[in-house]
Amino acid sequence: MSYSGWLIYNAGLISKKFTEMNRWYEQAGQSINMEVTSIKNTEVYAFIKENQLFVDGQKNNPDFVLFLDKDIRLADQFERLGIPVFNSKETIDICDNKITMYQILAQHNLPIPNTIFAPMIFPGNVEADAAFLDFIEKELSYPMIVKEAYGSFGAQVYLVKNRKELEEKNRDLLHIPHLYQTLIESSVGRDIRIHIVGDKVVASMMRSSIEDFRANVTNGGKMEAVDPPESFKKLAIQASLATGADFSGVDLLFGKNGEPIICEVNSNAHIKNIFDCTRVDVTKDILQYIKVQLTKNS
Ligand SMILES: Nc1ncnc2c1ncn2[C@@H]1O[C@H](COP(=O)(O)OP(=O)(O)O)[C@@H](O)[C@H]1O
Ligand SMILES: [Mg+2]
Repeated sequence: MSYSGWLIYNAGLISKKFTEMNRWYEQAGQSINMEVTSIKNTEVYAFIKENQLFVDGQKNNPDFVLFLDKDIRLADQFERLGIPVFNSKETIDICDNKITMYQILAQHNLPIPNTIFAPMIFPGNVEADAAFLDFIEKELSYPMIVKEAYGSFGAQVYLVKNRKELEEKNRDLLHIPHLYQTLIESSVGRDIRIHIVGDKVVASMMRSSIEDFRANVTNGGKMEAVDPPESFKKLAIQASLATGADFSGVDLLFGKNGEPIICEVNSNAHIKNIFDCTRVDVTKDILQYIKVQLTKNS
């Protein structure tokens, strides 16, 4: 049976990098007899009329949705209509917020750096809480990592070296969800990105930067194809499955004895860097996986 799906992407992401990625998915679909149509999230209207849920993309509803966006309300609408969504609304929601993501990983007893979540403070209160900063200092040592809950490309990840910087960061982020975290010193500027589809590793690369504590390619991280140790592969699979991801890009840090520690699980991992580095086209694995899931459930 042939399936037709919608690839949903965000209307704000129309750079060449993103449109090129959509073409890859469309082509990968063609090669396995699946029709993939790229649609912006603003071109599909989610609504309720006479007490019934609808999505209207001016076309028949698809057999599946490949959700490359973070518009979880739209993903939710598809799911409530019984249309299979990859990754699920739940997974996208978990991975989008680093606080929820770490909570889920810890609940699965998976290794993550020690992490403290900032309390939510309504805008009425502008005072930093010295007792909370004391608690952070008691639990974590300098230099430490501070991360906003929502962020990517390393842009919302900071290094804090002393009390003064901690106070400043805390004040800057007072009304923004964020967290404080142990810096894994043995991994500064270095991590491993592992792409998972289902419960399998499909591609891996090491990223290392000499200029920055963040290994993101956007921060000057250099990519190198690697075959990671089994312990890294196993943990990446466990982390991906813990978030319920159908496919993901897991970032792992190097612990001081070379053991893997989870940095994050990306539900919307980019596929171009990993292709440039390893020549593995992850889109094929993802669509093949979706096909198997649809066939299983039909
Ligand atoms: N606790 C940590 N210890 C050491 N390095 C870290 C830590 N957390 C993040 N990093 C570095 O910062 C980079 C960006 O952090 P990450 O949590 O993956 O945020 P983003 O979603 O912006 O990529 C990571 O790839 C890693 O190199
Ligand atoms: Mg990352």
